[in-house]
Amino acid sequence: MARERRAETETLAPGRSAVNPEFWDARAKKFAQAVSGTATRDPFLARVRRDVTRSSTVLDVGAGSGRFSLALAPRVREVTAVDWSAAMLKLVAAQARRLGLANLTCVSGAWEDVEVAPADVTICSYVLPLAADPEVFLAKIDRLTRRRAFVYLNAVSAELLMDPFWRHFHGRPRRPAPTYLDAVGILRDLKRSATVEIVEIPVRARFTTVAAAVRAYADTLLLDDSPAVRKELRGLLEPWLVVGEGGKLRPPVRTLPAAILSWSPAGR
Ligand SMILES: C[S@@+](CC[C@H](N)C(=O)[O-])C[C@H]1O[C@@H](n2cnc3c(N)ncnc32)[C@H](O)[C@@H]1O
Repeated sequence: MARERRAETETLAPGRSAVNPEFWDARAKKFAQAVSGTATRDPFLARVRRDVTRSSTVLDVGAGSGRFSLALAPRVREVTAVDWSAAMLKLVAAQARRLGLANLTCVSGAWEDVEVAPADVTICSYVLPLAADPEVFLAKIDRLTRRRAFVYLNAVSAELLMDPFWRHFHGRPRRPAPTYLDAVGILRDLKRSATVEIVEIPVRARFTTVAAAVRAYADTLLLDDSPAVRKELRGLLEPWLVVGEGGKLRPPVRTLPAAILSWSPAGR
């Protein structure tokens, strides 16, 4: 599934598939702004905190701008934030300095390649569906976790909201992305039985203008950036978007379910 979806992305928009560091480098600042300050209200942080103590070591796989690494660091012994985007890790390091967190280490590189020490608790939030080989990715998380591993991802198809728009422009459904159920299946193949908790999380997309929404969704839908396509997309988005707090435009859905998978590696 991961391979076929990536191939579809590369055919429609060469170089725009999310499976390279440059994609995330280009989006680091915007991503950091979008998630800034959300960790403390996020059910994932509350769940992970139940399994860490002051003496725990934590590994954050695909840490991004560090929303969970930075929130956990004051409560544990040590956090290692791994990401292949140098721009993301720069933001993590700068924020760690600002907050005076001396126990947060950044490791730059693909999870599949980096050499890091095992940790008591491993977290991986919104990264797994991007993995080139989810089995290799999960097996390494399992191998480097001493006590408990947590994987956070959408509990519904990533296309739930965009599916009608995708079909409109591409004339067929998008190749499905792997979901948390596939992750449970892979873990079962690895002889691990994952606990699944479903939580509701806010849909964060907010736009100051319809034009900004058109730009963002044209990117998500892998559309050509032409005036005709923009006009057509605008015609679809205008009646769909709703005006939210502060006059900002948002999708007509406030929350969507997410899945927290967790397991303890056997014998540990
Ligand atoms: C959607 S962001 C999630 C960031 C963070 N975990 C969070 O929930 O806020 C995905 C992050 O995973 C990183 N990433 C994706 N694939 C990776 C890989 N194979 N190795 C290391 N980092 C990866 C990207 O660079 C990006 O920063």
